[in-house]
Amino acid sequence: MSGAVTKGAAIYEGKAKTIYATSRPDLLIQYFKDDATAFNGKKKGIIQNKGICNNAISSHIFGLLEKEGVKTHFVSKLSHREMLVKKVEIIPIEVVMRNVVAGSLSTRMGIPEGEQIKEPVMELYYKSDPLGDPMINRYHIRAFNLATDEEVRFIEKESFRINKWLLSFFDKIGIRLVDYKLEYGRSPEGVLLADEISPDGCRLWDKATGEKMDKDRFRRDLGMLTEVYEEMTRRTLAAT
Ligand code: C5P
Repeated sequence: MSGAVTKGAAIYEGKAKTIYATSRPDLLIQYFKDDATAFNGKKKGIIQNKGICNNAISSHIFGLLEKEGVKTHFVSKLSHREMLVKKVEIIPIEVVMRNVVAGSLSTRMGIPEGEQIKEPVMELYYKSDPLGDPMINRYHIRAFNLATDEEVRFIEKESFRINKWLLSFFDKIGIRLVDYKLEYGRSPEGVLLADEISPDGCRLWDKATGEKMDKDRFRRDLGMLTEVYEEMTRRTLAAT
């Protein structure tokens, strides 16, 4: 499928990825950069090799999710930093799945980080950089036409299914899956899981040591950034 595809112009420059058109109208290339941002773009930096790690991790996980019957935008890993994906119209809703209290949930509920949640919590945010991705609920989605009821029902069900699989996957590689963000897009084939699943958008804690193995190391100035992304890549690629 990817044999004859050639790279076209950059059509979207994101914080950590650039999207390119291709010779195929239905396919795009996601190029993974080393740029890191936090706090809605207020903190900026570079994590050497992050793009290579995130592409490897995301490609591997999307490939495995496809085998589980999850429909994703992933087509193939083209190179160290490039992923061929199906063109989608991103639904402007960020789905955050939480298994352990951390980050903004800890602040919002006044519960210390690290407390296991008795069942997974799903949160919805409006994907908007200028607004800083505010939290929304189904009523906002309906009132402001962000997605249809059918899309929301699908996204919710799919996110819990993905969470179950990811929890078990990360557990096998010695990682506690604390929380993470998912994005979905509309395509002629229906709603597909899109964007990436990588340490940039997940909280991943080493089960044995409690060490943070994700972008919180950048947000909180904990150092060992490249080392941790590379370690997550090694563990992820070794697992099926
Ligand atoms: O900041 P907060 O605790 O709400 O983040 C929850 C999870 O969602 C974290 O794993 C974070 O990396 C991810 N997230 C993200 N992009 C956002 C907001 C949250 O990847 N815009």
